[in-house]
Amino acid sequence: MAADKSSLPEELQKLLQRQGVRIQAFPQAQNVQEDDAGDDADERRAKALQFDFKPSQIKDYLDRYVIQQDDAKKVLATAVCDHYHHIQSCQGEDDCRDYKKQNIILIGPTGVGKTYLVQNIARLIGVPFVKADATKFSETGYVGGDVEDLVRDLVHQADGDIGLAEYGIVYLDEIDKIAGAHSVAGRDVSGHGVQRGLLKMMEETAVPLRSPSDIAGQMQSLMEFQAKGKFEKKTISTKHILFIVSGAFDGLPNIIKKRVGAKQIGFREDIGVLDKEHLLYEMARSVDFIEYGFEAEFIGRLPVIVHCNQLTAEDLFKILKYSEGSLLKQYKRDFLAYGIDTYFTDDGMQAIAGKAVKEQTGARGLITVCEKTFRNYKYVLPDHPVVREFVVGDEMIQKPQAKLEELLSNPEMYRDRVVEFQVSRFEEKFQQEYAIRVRVTPEAVLQLRRQADEVGKNPLDHFIEVFGGFEHGFNLLQKTSGSVFVIDEPVVEDPSQGVDNWIRESYQKD
Ligand SMILES: Nc1ncnc2c1ncn2[C@@H]1O[C@H](COP(=O)(O)OP(=O)(O)OP(=O)(O)O)[C@@H](O)[C@H]1O
Ligand SMILES: [Mg+2]
Repeated sequence: MAADKSSLPEELQKLLQRQGVRIQAFPQAQNVQEDDAGDDADERRAKALQFDFKPSQIKDYLDRYVIQQDDAKKVLATAVCDHYHHIQSCQGEDDCRDYKKQNIILIGPTGVGKTYLVQNIARLIGVPFVKADATKFSETGYVGGDVEDLVRDLVHQADGDIGLAEYGIVYLDEIDKIAGAHSVAGRDVSGHGVQRGLLKMMEETAVPLRSPSDIAGQMQSLMEFQAKGKFEKKTISTKHILFIVSGAFDGLPNIIKKRVGAKQIGFREDIGVLDKEHLLYEMARSVDFIEYGFEAEFIGRLPVIVHCNQLTAEDLFKILKYSEGSLLKQYKRDFLAYGIDTYFTDDGMQAIAGKAVKEQTGARGLITVCEKTFRNYKYVLPDHPVVREFVVGDEMIQKPQAKLEELLSNPEMYRDRVVEFQVSRFEEKFQQEYAIRVRVTPEAVLQLRRQADEVGKNPLDHFIEVFGGFEHGFNLLQKTSGSVFVIDEPVVEDPSQGVDNWIRESYQKD
């Protein structure tokens, strides 16, 4: 029996014709009921509807990872909240009809946290997130299909859950590279093509789950058709997908400057070059992007313009010291894998930041500097029989090789400094774990280090293990606001007795 060809997607009909395939449906095909594919759509939707953040909560979360960029954090957080709250409130088709999606354009120099901001937002709110470079599309020449792949990738990210994918975030980097006027010769056409492909998706379109150019996928559709007698119309609606595009947009400040005229910006001699650029980025309007080489229709669909600022040496220092995603954590882990402890002083971090800022690649400069500095340490130290720790200070960053050689000939050179660090680490840890303030003596630290060595443990882990069993005792301590308990050698030697003494003393103080 011949299949009703009109039920086949057009692309597939053409494909099959080309391959000379005759389409036959199985007899039971006529009896197949309407598929219940949409049945659990509500459930999936409910997941996205769980969104329950306020802009300030998103900003607080971002603050833990991203240093500076306060304006960007606020605008992004607000736009994301609006977007997801809108989805929640729009129950029927009619409610959503007039909504204008808050797609976002994120601008600013390289390495200052544009991608990082969006990654962190997606992680916090738990929606599927896809990131790609816009340049990828201009190179293949086959525009439409590729751009749609972004949306299909969201389905992969959502483990095949189309309903969830429809509430995802698509992040497109290097968007400035597909601007017509600034494209490399010969690429203009595809740049505009990509813009057109994207603008369709940014609004609302139905993307087929299987790409017409994906023969394997189409064959699978055919097999499903043969089994069920009908094609499940699987498409992904882009109506609620949030698009965020970003780029460095070199040259944009000049365009803005031309538009507003130097006078209006109130340029004074005392404003540094960086500040000037940052002021200009702040003034970016859609018209500047059109001048830059974007189609008006494309830019018109990106109503939220957000800018990120260049990072100063002080910012880079804060990234190292305070960001939960600090690169130093990675370095500490890398060395710890060989049983080597690393300690970064403020001086050391400042020195890294000072060198990194000269690279002019934003926070990426930190990676460049650290990689260069620690390259040899990573190679040599794992083989060393004695070196178990080192301290990163200013001198080490300035002369890493000389300091490495010094360390190899005198493996104990950092001992006192490390003990100092460990004293404060132990004290902090105690406060964190048990909410008890202690003062740890350097002798106690040395004692703990010896014990840790014997059992082959990290001193801090050993410390927690030693005192971990006394939580009930700690509960009996009479604490006043100024109570500080001392961990000295005898306490380390006999912690049970030590804690008993603390309890007794704490009552006597009353
Ligand atoms: N403001 C910041 N706070 C903390 N870490 C940051 C910040 N900016 C950048 N980083 C770190 O640097 C890395 C690179 O930053 P990111 O990928 O966000 O750069 P970008 O602004 O997207 O640059 P590009 O325009 O080159 O894509 C991040 O993964 C992050 O670890
Ligand atoms: Mg980026």
